[in-house]
Amino acid sequence: MLTTISLAPLIGSEIQADRKTLLDGSAAPEIRRLLQERGVLVFRKVNFNDEEQLTFTRTLGTPDEQGGYGRLFKITLDKRENPGAEILKGTFFWHIDGTTSDVPALASLLSARRLSPTGGQTEWANTYAAYDALSEADKQAIERLKVVHDQEAAQRMVYPEPTLAQVLSWRKYPQKTHPLVWHHQNGRKSLVVGSTTFYVEGMSLRDSCELLTRLREWATQRQFVYQHEWSVGDLVIWDNTGTMHRALMYAADSGRLMHRTGLAGEESLA
Ligand code: OGA
Ligand code: MN
Repeated sequence: MLTTISLAPLIGSEIQADRKTLLDGSAAPEIRRLLQERGVLVFRKVNFNDEEQLTFTRTLGTPDEQGGYGRLFKITLDKRENPGAEILKGTFFWHIDGTTSDVPALASLLSARRLSPTGGQTEWANTYAAYDALSEADKQAIERLKVVHDQEAAQRMVYPEPTLAQVLSWRKYPQKTHPLVWHHQNGRKSLVVGSTTFYVEGMSLRDSCELLTRLREWATQRQFVYQHEWSVGDLVIWDNTGTMHRALMYAADSGRLMHRTGLAGEESLA
């Protein structure tokens, strides 16, 4: 049994466990259960190095190999540290990772290596809880809607007046159509909204924009959100299928550096 402390009623638990228990995998089944139940799990100052973070990741499922840089991805806006840093400005807006694939990542693990002096907190919203709290009328109205997701939609938030070259570069990510309501294999339902939503199929652009904005605003109300104030050495895991997240603004030259690993998705977004 792990010691857990609830961080907010609807989302987030801190887990207190010694490093050995985390690394030998004996707590993995319980961590997986808690992850689905609580959305976000915080391991304060666990201070894993890269190898340990990868080992811990492997105890929980299949590591996601798509991340680049081997299986450990540097989350920083500093181009010297990550030449692909530009696209990470999209992390300032509410999103679900991997919505331009059919099987989004099951979970992501982020550890803090260097902090920004200001900003740089991370927030998560529980999209299961947000769906559950909708009115019956809303639930019925959105039950069968499908939404086109596009990296372009997310990047337009960073660059509202892009060059054509930018628009074309965003198109190397495929466009994907997903249901607005994810019917999970566990029988629960969650909202699939956030910055990659382009438009609702078969709806006028205005109505689509209104609905997607309303649902994103709904899902990110305080009662569904946990905000993490990082310390160096903290590790946070989130259920990427039942939460969305964003980083609060920090400067590209702030020095902020996070190391991310991920668990490959186990169910398609359906
Ligand atoms: C991510 C992400 C947020 C952060 O790594 O997918 O969105 O706070 N990170 O860096
Ligand atoms: Mn992300």
